[in-house]
Amino acid sequence: MKGIVLAGGKGSRLRPFTYSGAKQLVPIANTPVLHFPIRQLVEAGIREIALVVGETEAQVREAMGDGAAFGARFVYVRQEAPLGIAHGVLVCREFVGEEPFVLYLGDNVLMGGVAGFVERFARSGADGAVILREVGDPRAFGVARMAGERLVEVVEKPAVPPSNLAVIGVYAFRPVVFEVIAGLRPSARGELEIADAINGLLARGCRIEVEVTPQEWIDTGKMEDILAANRLLLGALERRIAPGARVVGSAIAGAVVIEEGAVVEGCEVVGPAVVGRGARLVGSRIGPNVAVGDECLVVNSRLEEAIVMARSEVVDCPGIVRSMLGRYVRVEGAPAGARLTLGDHSRVEPGP
Ligand code: DAU
Repeated sequence: MKGIVLAGGKGSRLRPFTYSGAKQLVPIANTPVLHFPIRQLVEAGIREIALVVGETEAQVREAMGDGAAFGARFVYVRQEAPLGIAHGVLVCREFVGEEPFVLYLGDNVLMGGVAGFVERFARSGADGAVILREVGDPRAFGVARMAGERLVEVVEKPAVPPSNLAVIGVYAFRPVVFEVIAGLRPSARGELEIADAINGLLARGCRIEVEVTPQEWIDTGKMEDILAANRLLLGALERRIAPGARVVGSAIAGAVVIEEGAVVEGCEVVGPAVVGRGARLVGSRIGPNVAVGDECLVVNSRLEEAIVMARSEVVDCPGIVRSMLGRYVRVEGAPAGARLTLGDHSRVEPGP
Protein backbone atom coordinates (compact mmCIF):
# COMPACT_ATOMS: atom_id res chain seq x y z
CA MET A 1 0.00 0.00 0.00
CA LYS A 2 1.23 3.50 -0.84
CA GLY A 3 0.38 6.91 0.54
CA ILE A 4 -0.48 10.24 -1.04
CA VAL A 5 -0.43 13.34 1.15
CA LEU A 6 -1.66 16.59 -0.34
CA ALA A 7 0.50 19.53 0.61
CA GLY A 8 -0.32 21.96 -2.17
CA GLY A 9 -3.25 24.35 -2.49
CA LYS A 10 -3.43 28.05 -1.77
CA GLY A 11 -4.19 28.43 1.92
CA SER A 12 -6.13 31.64 1.39
CA ARG A 13 -8.27 30.88 4.45
CA LEU A 14 -5.19 30.92 6.67
CA ARG A 15 -3.87 34.35 5.82
CA PRO A 16 -1.77 36.05 7.13
CA PHE A 17 0.23 32.91 7.96
CA THR A 18 0.11 31.55 4.44
CA TYR A 19 1.58 34.74 2.93
CA SER A 20 4.91 33.49 4.17
CA GLY A 21 4.45 29.74 4.43
CA ALA A 22 2.64 26.60 3.35
CA LYS A 23 -0.56 26.02 5.29
CA GLN A 24 0.41 22.43 6.01
CA LEU A 25 3.51 23.69 7.85
CA VAL A 26 1.65 25.89 10.34
CA PRO A 27 2.88 24.64 13.73
CA ILE A 28 0.31 23.13 16.03
CA ALA A 29 1.57 22.13 19.48
CA ASN A 30 4.97 23.17 18.02
CA THR A 31 4.79 20.56 15.26
CA PRO A 32 4.05 21.35 11.61
CA VAL A 33 0.61 19.91 11.01
CA LEU A 34 1.90 17.88 8.04
CA HIS A 35 3.96 15.72 10.41
CA PHE A 36 0.83 14.10 11.82
CA PRO A 37 -0.54 12.54 8.61
CA ILE A 38 2.96 11.32 7.74
CA ARG A 39 3.58 9.76 11.15
CA GLN A 40 0.18 8.10 11.08
CA LEU A 41 0.76 6.59 7.64
CA VAL A 42 4.12 5.22 8.78
CA GLU A 43 2.46 3.81 11.92
CA ALA A 44 -0.01 2.09 9.60
CA GLY A 45 2.90 0.46 7.75
CA ILE A 46 2.87 2.80 4.73
CA ARG A 47 6.35 4.02 3.94
CA GLU A 48 6.27 5.00 0.30
CA ILE A 49 4.57 8.35 0.31
CA ALA A 50 4.03 10.91 -2.43
CA LEU A 51 3.85 14.49 -1.22
CA VAL A 52 1.85 16.55 -3.67
CA VAL A 53 3.21 20.08 -3.68
CA GLY A 54 2.44 23.36 -5.36
CA GLU A 55 4.08 26.75 -5.27
CA THR A 56 5.35 26.19 -1.71
CA GLU A 57 7.30 23.11 -2.86
CA ALA A 58 10.70 24.47 -1.77
CA GLN A 59 9.51 25.07 1.79
CA VAL A 60 7.80 21.73 2.08
CA ARG A 61 10.90 19.95 0.78
CA GLU A 62 13.11 21.79 3.20
CA ALA A 63 10.85 21.08 6.18
CA MET A 64 10.15 17.43 5.37
CA GLY A 65 13.31 16.14 3.66
CA ASP A 66 13.48 12.77 1.95
CA GLY A 67 11.36 10.98 4.54
CA ALA A 68 14.21 9.23 6.37
CA ALA A 69 13.49 11.22 9.56
CA PHE A 70 10.00 9.68 9.56
CA GLY A 71 11.06 6.18 8.55
CA ALA A 72 9.51 6.77 5.13
CA ARG A 73 10.52 7.44 1.54
CA PHE A 74 9.07 10.58 0.01
CA VAL A 75 8.53 11.31 -3.64
CA TYR A 76 7.60 14.92 -4.37
CA VAL A 77 5.02 15.31 -7.10
CA ARG A 78 4.40 18.79 -8.43
CA GLN A 79 0.85 19.87 -9.11
CA GLU A 80 1.15 22.82 -11.47
CA ALA A 81 -1.93 24.53 -9.98
CA PRO A 82 -4.44 23.67 -7.23
CA LEU A 83 -6.90 22.08 -9.62
CA GLY A 84 -8.63 19.97 -7.00
CA ILE A 85 -8.02 17.10 -4.63
CA ALA A 86 -8.82 14.51 -7.29
CA HIS A 87 -6.34 16.26 -9.59
CA GLY A 88 -3.74 15.98 -6.82
CA VAL A 89 -4.40 12.23 -6.87
CA LEU A 90 -4.24 12.02 -10.65
CA VAL A 91 -0.73 13.49 -10.79
CA CYS A 92 0.40 10.55 -8.63
CA ARG A 93 -0.81 7.89 -11.04
CA GLU A 94 2.67 6.77 -12.04
CA PHE A 95 3.87 6.73 -8.44
CA VAL A 96 0.94 4.56 -7.33
CA GLY A 97 1.13 2.05 -10.18
CA GLU A 98 -1.05 -0.96 -9.51
CA GLU A 99 -1.14 -0.70 -5.71
CA PRO A 100 -3.94 0.39 -3.43
CA PHE A 101 -3.24 3.66 -1.64
CA VAL A 102 -4.33 5.94 1.16
CA LEU A 103 -4.96 9.62 0.46
CA TYR A 104 -4.48 11.92 3.45
CA LEU A 105 -5.11 15.66 3.18
CA GLY A 106 -2.06 17.38 4.61
CA ASP A 107 -4.02 19.83 6.76
CA ASN A 108 -6.18 17.16 8.41
CA VAL A 109 -5.46 15.08 11.49
CA LEU A 110 -7.57 12.17 12.66
CA MET A 111 -6.78 11.63 16.32
CA GLY A 112 -5.92 8.02 17.11
CA GLY A 113 -4.35 7.38 13.69
CA VAL A 114 -5.34 5.37 10.63
CA ALA A 115 -3.81 1.93 11.23
CA GLY A 116 -7.19 0.26 11.85
CA PHE A 117 -8.76 1.93 8.81
CA VAL A 118 -5.86 0.85 6.57
CA GLU A 119 -5.99 -2.72 7.83
CA ARG A 120 -9.76 -3.00 7.38
CA PHE A 121 -9.51 -1.61 3.84
CA ALA A 122 -6.71 -4.01 2.91
CA ARG A 123 -8.79 -6.95 4.16
CA SER A 124 -12.08 -5.78 2.61
CA GLY A 125 -11.18 -6.06 -1.06
CA ALA A 126 -13.30 -2.91 -1.63
CA ASP A 127 -12.43 -0.36 -4.32
CA GLY A 128 -12.47 2.52 -1.91
CA ALA A 129 -13.11 3.51 1.68
CA VAL A 130 -14.01 6.74 3.41
CA ILE A 131 -14.24 7.84 7.02
CA LEU A 132 -17.24 9.84 8.17
CA ARG A 133 -17.71 11.91 11.25
CA GLU A 134 -20.75 13.58 12.71
CA VAL A 135 -20.38 17.34 12.70
CA GLY A 136 -22.57 20.19 13.90
CA ASP A 137 -22.50 22.09 10.61
CA PRO A 138 -21.63 19.89 7.63
CA ARG A 139 -21.96 22.64 5.00
CA ALA A 140 -18.19 23.24 4.79
CA PHE A 141 -17.41 19.61 3.88
CA GLY A 142 -18.17 16.75 1.58
CA VAL A 143 -21.32 15.22 3.08
CA ALA A 144 -22.49 11.61 2.84
CA ARG A 145 -25.92 10.67 1.58
CA MET A 146 -26.61 7.27 3.09
CA ALA A 147 -29.14 4.52 2.48
CA GLY A 148 -28.94 2.70 5.79
CA GLU A 149 -25.29 1.66 6.17
CA ARG A 150 -24.53 2.18 2.50
CA LEU A 151 -22.98 5.28 0.95
CA VAL A 152 -25.07 6.51 -1.98
CA GLU A 153 -23.46 9.84 -2.79
CA VAL A 154 -21.03 12.45 -1.51
CA VAL A 155 -22.28 16.01 -1.91
CA GLU A 156 -19.55 18.65 -1.79
CA LYS A 157 -20.27 21.63 0.47
CA PRO A 158 -24.06 21.40 0.17
CA ALA A 159 -26.30 24.31 1.16
CA VAL A 160 -28.79 21.72 2.39
CA PRO A 161 -26.80 18.77 3.76
CA PRO A 162 -28.25 15.29 3.20
CA SER A 163 -26.90 14.17 6.62
CA ASN A 164 -24.65 15.42 9.40
CA LEU A 165 -21.87 13.02 8.35
CA ALA A 166 -18.84 14.83 6.94
CA VAL A 167 -16.32 12.98 4.79
CA ILE A 168 -13.01 13.57 6.53
CA GLY A 169 -9.70 13.99 4.78
CA VAL A 170 -8.54 10.36 4.84
CA TYR A 171 -9.50 8.03 1.98
CA ALA A 172 -8.37 4.69 0.56
CA PHE A 173 -8.61 3.64 -3.07
CA ARG A 174 -7.59 1.03 -5.58
CA PRO A 175 -6.12 2.23 -8.88
CA VAL A 176 -9.51 1.99 -10.62
CA VAL A 177 -10.10 5.48 -9.21
CA PHE A 178 -7.61 6.88 -11.74
CA GLU A 179 -9.87 5.82 -14.60
CA VAL A 180 -12.77 7.63 -12.97
CA ILE A 181 -10.75 10.79 -12.26
CA ALA A 182 -9.40 10.88 -15.81
CA GLY A 183 -13.02 11.21 -16.99
CA LEU A 184 -14.07 13.95 -14.53
CA ARG A 185 -14.84 17.54 -15.47
CA PRO A 186 -14.06 20.49 -13.21
CA SER A 187 -16.82 21.44 -10.77
CA ALA A 188 -18.45 24.87 -10.50
CA ARG A 189 -15.46 26.00 -8.40
CA GLY A 190 -13.10 24.83 -11.15
CA GLU A 191 -11.71 21.79 -9.34
CA LEU A 192 -11.62 18.06 -9.93
CA GLU A 193 -13.53 17.03 -6.83
CA ILE A 194 -12.73 13.98 -4.75
CA ALA A 195 -16.49 13.81 -4.07
CA ASP A 196 -17.08 13.36 -7.82
CA ALA A 197 -14.42 10.65 -7.96
CA ILE A 198 -16.21 8.74 -5.20
CA ASN A 199 -19.57 9.25 -6.92
CA GLY A 200 -18.04 8.02 -10.18
CA LEU A 201 -16.83 4.86 -8.47
CA LEU A 202 -20.31 4.30 -7.02
CA ALA A 203 -21.88 4.85 -10.46
CA ARG A 204 -19.64 2.10 -11.86
CA GLY A 205 -20.90 -0.26 -9.20
CA CYS A 206 -17.62 -0.20 -7.27
CA ARG A 207 -17.73 -1.01 -3.59
CA ILE A 208 -16.91 1.83 -1.19
CA GLU A 209 -16.58 0.95 2.48
CA VAL A 210 -17.71 3.52 5.03
CA GLU A 211 -16.89 3.87 8.67
CA VAL A 212 -18.08 6.47 11.10
CA THR A 213 -15.36 7.51 13.50
CA PRO A 214 -15.95 8.60 17.06
CA GLN A 215 -12.43 10.09 17.15
CA GLU A 216 -11.73 13.77 17.19
CA TRP A 217 -10.80 15.08 13.79
CA ILE A 218 -9.01 18.27 12.98
CA ASP A 219 -9.32 20.15 9.71
CA THR A 220 -6.90 23.03 10.12
CA GLY A 221 -8.03 24.66 6.90
CA LYS A 222 -9.60 27.64 8.65
CA MET A 223 -8.14 30.05 11.16
CA GLU A 224 -10.69 29.44 13.91
CA ASP A 225 -9.93 25.73 13.78
CA ILE A 226 -6.23 26.16 14.48
CA LEU A 227 -6.52 27.04 18.16
CA ALA A 228 -8.97 24.18 18.65
CA ALA A 229 -6.46 21.87 16.96
CA ASN A 230 -3.70 23.23 19.18
CA ARG A 231 -5.81 22.43 22.24
CA LEU A 232 -6.47 18.89 21.08
CA LEU A 233 -2.89 18.06 20.15
CA LEU A 234 -1.48 19.66 23.28
CA GLY A 235 -3.98 17.58 25.22
CA ALA A 236 -2.29 14.43 23.87
CA LEU A 237 1.15 15.39 25.23
CA GLU A 238 2.80 13.89 28.27
CA ARG A 239 4.80 15.93 30.71
CA ARG A 240 8.47 16.05 29.73
CA ILE A 241 11.21 18.43 30.76
CA ALA A 242 14.32 17.94 28.64
CA PRO A 243 17.53 17.33 30.59
CA GLY A 244 19.11 20.39 29.02
CA ALA A 245 16.22 22.72 29.91
CA ARG A 246 16.74 25.07 32.86
CA VAL A 247 13.79 25.65 35.16
CA VAL A 248 14.49 28.11 37.96
CA GLY A 249 12.09 29.35 40.64
CA SER A 250 9.08 28.29 38.62
CA ALA A 251 5.92 26.27 39.18
CA ILE A 252 5.17 23.75 36.44
CA ALA A 253 1.75 22.12 36.64
CA GLY A 254 0.23 19.39 34.49
CA ALA A 255 1.19 18.20 30.99
CA VAL A 256 3.98 20.60 30.16
CA VAL A 257 6.75 19.90 27.66
CA ILE A 258 9.89 22.00 27.97
CA GLU A 259 12.38 21.35 25.20
CA GLU A 260 16.15 21.25 25.18
CA GLY A 261 17.92 24.51 25.92
CA ALA A 262 14.78 26.35 27.08
CA VAL A 263 15.06 28.56 30.16
CA VAL A 264 12.06 29.11 32.44
CA GLU A 265 12.71 31.58 35.21
CA GLY A 266 10.24 32.85 37.83
CA CYS A 267 7.25 31.57 35.86
CA GLU A 268 4.07 29.63 36.35
CA VAL A 269 3.42 27.20 33.50
CA VAL A 270 0.07 25.44 33.46
CA GLY A 271 -0.41 22.52 31.08
CA PRO A 272 -1.18 21.57 28.56
CA ALA A 273 1.62 23.69 27.19
CA VAL A 274 4.81 23.32 25.22
CA VAL A 275 7.91 25.47 25.33
CA GLY A 276 10.21 25.14 22.33
CA ARG A 277 13.96 24.64 22.12
CA GLY A 278 16.02 27.55 23.33
CA ALA A 279 12.95 29.60 24.31
CA ARG A 280 13.29 31.93 27.28
CA LEU A 281 10.38 32.64 29.63
CA VAL A 282 10.88 35.11 32.44
CA GLY A 283 8.42 36.25 35.12
CA SER A 284 5.42 35.08 33.13
CA ARG A 285 2.35 32.91 33.39
CA ILE A 286 1.92 30.54 30.47
CA GLY A 287 -1.03 28.28 29.78
CA PRO A 288 -3.19 26.43 29.64
CA ASN A 289 -3.26 25.56 25.92
CA VAL A 290 -0.19 27.46 24.87
CA ALA A 291 2.55 26.55 22.40
CA VAL A 292 5.63 28.74 22.55
CA GLY A 293 7.93 28.09 19.59
CA ASP A 294 11.71 27.63 19.45
CA GLU A 295 13.91 30.56 20.47
CA CYS A 296 10.99 32.72 21.64
CA LEU A 297 11.30 35.27 24.42
CA VAL A 298 8.41 35.90 26.83
CA VAL A 299 9.00 38.42 29.60
CA ASN A 300 6.62 39.70 32.28
CA SER A 301 3.56 38.50 30.38
CA ARG A 302 0.61 36.19 30.54
CA LEU A 303 -0.40 33.91 27.68
CA GLU A 304 -3.44 31.70 27.58
CA GLU A 305 -4.77 29.64 24.65
CA ALA A 306 -2.19 30.82 22.16
CA ILE A 307 0.31 29.82 19.52
CA VAL A 308 3.52 31.82 19.42
CA MET A 309 5.65 30.68 16.51
CA ALA A 310 9.43 30.46 16.53
CA ARG A 311 11.68 33.43 17.30
CA SER A 312 8.95 35.80 18.48
CA GLU A 313 9.01 38.07 21.51
CA VAL A 314 6.26 38.99 23.94
CA VAL A 315 7.15 41.59 26.53
CA ASP A 316 5.03 43.28 29.22
CA CYS A 317 1.69 41.90 28.04
CA PRO A 318 -0.58 41.18 31.01
CA GLY A 319 -3.03 38.94 29.15
CA ILE A 320 -2.76 37.70 25.59
CA VAL A 321 -5.58 35.23 24.98
CA ARG A 322 -6.85 33.16 22.05
CA SER A 323 -4.09 34.47 19.82
CA MET A 324 -1.79 33.35 17.03
CA LEU A 325 1.53 35.04 16.54
CA GLY A 326 3.67 34.18 13.54
CA ARG A 327 7.44 33.97 13.46
CA TYR A 328 9.75 36.89 14.26
CA VAL A 329 6.86 38.84 15.79
CA ARG A 330 7.45 41.33 18.59
CA VAL A 331 4.60 42.40 20.85
CA GLU A 332 5.22 44.82 23.66
CA GLY A 333 2.66 46.34 26.00
CA ALA A 334 -0.50 44.86 24.49
CA PRO A 335 -3.41 45.40 26.91
CA ALA A 336 -4.93 42.63 29.02
CA GLY A 337 -7.43 40.57 27.06
CA ALA A 338 -5.78 41.31 23.71
CA ARG A 339 -6.65 38.80 20.98
CA LEU A 340 -4.03 38.96 18.30
CA THR A 341 -3.60 37.33 14.90
CA LEU A 342 -0.25 38.48 13.60
CA GLY A 343 1.64 37.28 10.54
CA ASP A 344 5.42 36.79 10.48
CA HIS A 345 7.56 39.84 11.34
CA SER A 346 4.60 41.85 12.72
CA ARG A 347 5.23 44.37 15.49
CA VAL A 348 2.97 45.69 18.22
CA GLU A 349 4.55 48.51 20.22
CA PRO A 350 3.41 50.42 23.29
CA GLY A 351 1.91 53.85 22.70
CA PRO A 352 3.58 57.02 23.94
O1 DAU B 1 -11.32 18.33 5.32
C1 DAU B 1 -12.21 17.44 4.69
C2 DAU B 1 -12.76 18.05 3.41
O2 DAU B 1 -11.63 18.27 2.55
C3 DAU B 1 -13.78 17.13 2.74
O3 DAU B 1 -14.93 17.00 3.54
C4 DAU B 1 -14.18 17.69 1.38
O4 DAU B 1 -15.03 16.78 0.73
C5 DAU B 1 -12.94 17.92 0.53
O5 DAU B 1 -13.26 18.53 -0.70
C6 DAU B 1 -11.94 18.81 1.28
O6 DAU B 1 -12.48 20.12 1.38
P1 DAU B 1 -11.61 21.42 1.64
O7 DAU B 1 -12.29 22.59 1.02
O8 DAU B 1 -11.30 21.51 3.09
O9 DAU B 1 -10.26 21.13 0.84
P2 DAU B 1 -9.05 22.10 0.63
O10 DAU B 1 -9.23 22.89 -0.62
O11 DAU B 1 -8.79 22.86 1.90
O12 DAU B 1 -7.84 21.09 0.39
C7 DAU B 1 -7.47 20.10 1.34
C8 DAU B 1 -5.96 19.89 1.31
O13 DAU B 1 -5.50 19.49 0.04
C9 DAU B 1 -5.14 21.10 1.67
O14 DAU B 1 -4.04 20.68 2.47
C10 DAU B 1 -4.62 21.63 0.36
C11 DAU B 1 -4.52 20.39 -0.47
N1 DAU B 1 -4.80 20.63 -1.89
C12 DAU B 1 -6.03 21.08 -2.25
C13 DAU B 1 -6.34 21.28 -3.57
C14 DAU B 1 -7.71 21.77 -3.98
C15 DAU B 1 -3.83 20.33 -2.85
O15 DAU B 1 -2.70 19.92 -2.49
N2 DAU B 1 -4.14 20.54 -4.16
C16 DAU B 1 -5.36 21.00 -4.58
O16 DAU B 1 -5.57 21.15 -5.79
